Amino acid sequence: MDFEGRWLKLDDFVDIDGLRQLDDEVRAGIERCMEKHGVGDSMMGSKVNRFFPSLPDLRYDKSAPVLSKLKTINLKMPRAYTRIHLADGAEPTEMAREFPGLVRWVESLPLLQHGRFFVIFDHEGAHEPIHRGPVPYQEFFWLRTNLDKQFFVFDETTQTKHYFEGHAVWFDQHTYHGCDETPVGELQWSIRVDGQFTPEVRKYIAEHFRGWTDEQRTLVPRYEQARDLDDLYPALSSTPDELGKMVQTMGEP
Ligand SMILES: [Fe+2]
Repeated sequence: MDFEGRWLKLDDFVDIDGLRQLDDEVRAGIERCMEKHGVGDSMMGSKVNRFFPSLPDLRYDKSAPVLSKLKTINLKMPRAYTRIHLADGAEPTEMAREFPGLVRWVESLPLLQHGRFFVIFDHEGAHEPIHRGPVPYQEFFWLRTNLDKQFFVFDETTQTKHYFEGHAVWFDQHTYHGCDETPVGELQWSIRVDGQFTPEVRKYIAEHFRGWTDEQRTLVPRYEQARDLDDLYPALSSTPDELGKMVQTMGEP
């Protein structure tokens, strides 16, 4: 069911009741952010981001639009991709004030520290095209306060989507993954918190994920070895103007 451990339910490691109770707050927070802060191209948190960019060469279908219509609200955002797992330099954004319970709850996660933290949502029929991340092992929680959003990892060999179960999930984001279309008019969301897992969570993943090479079994994230990632993800360190130009170059979906 879990496609060789490429996604793993981590509900037993987190305060699920507390997470479920945040459902109303997160819905209201998203609605308030759209109303108060507007939807635009800024990646640094002063606005709700209009698009969720993913690199062309990491797409499963290379002809799919580069930018999905999913929207993101950054609650904490470091300025470089290679620092997304670190607390140092990841400043809370103004919009984090709209999610006080969630910001508190995240501190209870089994992470030694956390960096990037954001909400990904849609209410206009968007989906996330199948794509993969650039780094084989990344430590983060993918979370949902309800079970509405349909997210999956994709087995290329059998062309099968393996849908997530539960509220708290880790997946190997170097495996192709995506999410189904949101029904138009229905607000759906997920939350991602990047950080460094506690030894207990690392051990659990090491025991269950059968996709590791021997080298990857060291469970050391590869950020430090992938210095070019900051060049690959210019959006994170771009000003709104620069990002606007990038959006124009990539073409809107
Ligand atoms: Fe992704």
